[in-house]
Amino acid sequence: MEEELISIKNTALSFILEAEDLKNLEEIKLQFLGKSGKLTLLIKEITKVPPEKRKEVGMLANEVKDAIEDAIKLRQENLKHKTKTVLRQKIDVTNPGILPPLGHEHLVTQAIEEISGIFEKIGFTRVTYPEVEWDWFAFEALNFPQGHPARDDWETFFIKGEKDPQKGAMLLTPHTSSGQIREMQKALITENKGEEVSIRMLNVAKCYRRQSDISHTPMFHQFETLVIDKNISISHLKGVLDYFAKSYFGQNRKTRIRPYHFQFTEPSFEVDVTCGVCNGKGCKLCKEGWLEMGGAGMVHPNVLKMSGIDPEKYRGFASGWGVERVLMMREGLEIDDLRLLYSNNLDFLEQF
Ligand code: DAH
Repeated sequence: MEEELISIKNTALSFILEAEDLKNLEEIKLQFLGKSGKLTLLIKEITKVPPEKRKEVGMLANEVKDAIEDAIKLRQENLKHKTKTVLRQKIDVTNPGILPPLGHEHLVTQAIEEISGIFEKIGFTRVTYPEVEWDWFAFEALNFPQGHPARDDWETFFIKGEKDPQKGAMLLTPHTSSGQIREMQKALITENKGEEVSIRMLNVAKCYRRQSDISHTPMFHQFETLVIDKNISISHLKGVLDYFAKSYFGQNRKTRIRPYHFQFTEPSFEVDVTCGVCNGKGCKLCKEGWLEMGGAGMVHPNVLKMSGIDPEKYRGFASGWGVERVLMMREGLEIDDLRLLYSNNLDFLEQF
């Protein structure tokens, strides 16, 4: 009897330890402690044990029963905990996650990065200057005398406030050309007090004009180049413009310069690029094979003087084009209303 009890205890304990789950454990419990369970039946047999041994065997039986019950409880806890881990493990971490909506750079920002990269490759340094600017930098030092009618072409936003006795009214810069003056002044301070001036500037910035219609937004972007050095000529200008047009629009594109007038350049030009649709032959879009891109010219001696640079010693060229304009032309985008660019319309923006 004692041996049988011990053997039941051992088998039960090893079964309990091996139980795979709570259901299996319940079955094991029934198998040993249920109404017709092995231990239950054996305990009933105790009556048959001789009276002098009955007490001892009874005590052993109780011990075995307690041991089995304790082991079941312990295993129960264990399995409950394990169930949790199993459930947790069911989350397959190799499944692709749910991504939060991801944005990307605005198409104008993408264009600015690309344009900057093109100029940086040939030694231009990108700079930024104030968008809230003084009249002196935006007009006066660029050779627009006070009251000159050409100032009206720039549809300027003036800021209410006291005028500066030297720099005049405060305004939102209507073009990146104001950066030319700041760049030359900076060069005079930082580069041997003007002994040796050598500038290759790319100024990309927001510009503001009082115009809002299907082809104009009150805020837009320009990129301005300024090169100042000894012996700079129109060929340098033409070379840089060609390089830019080929890099940005495609190697088969050509540029041409046409005489024009700007206050701050002499001579001044308008720059055209061959049309990408007909390759310069002439089509419905371009009519004569050329698309107008923007202005350029040799820096006016007055502008050099106003910035403190000796026009006898130094010469330079400058160009200023619209970022949105070159972007539209390259992508062949026909946006009915340019204001869409800045309307935060995701259906539109997600296409780029
Ligand atoms: N600032 C001119 C504009 O906004 C563009 C321009 C023309 C810039 C000729 C230049 C230049 O640097 O040389 O229309």
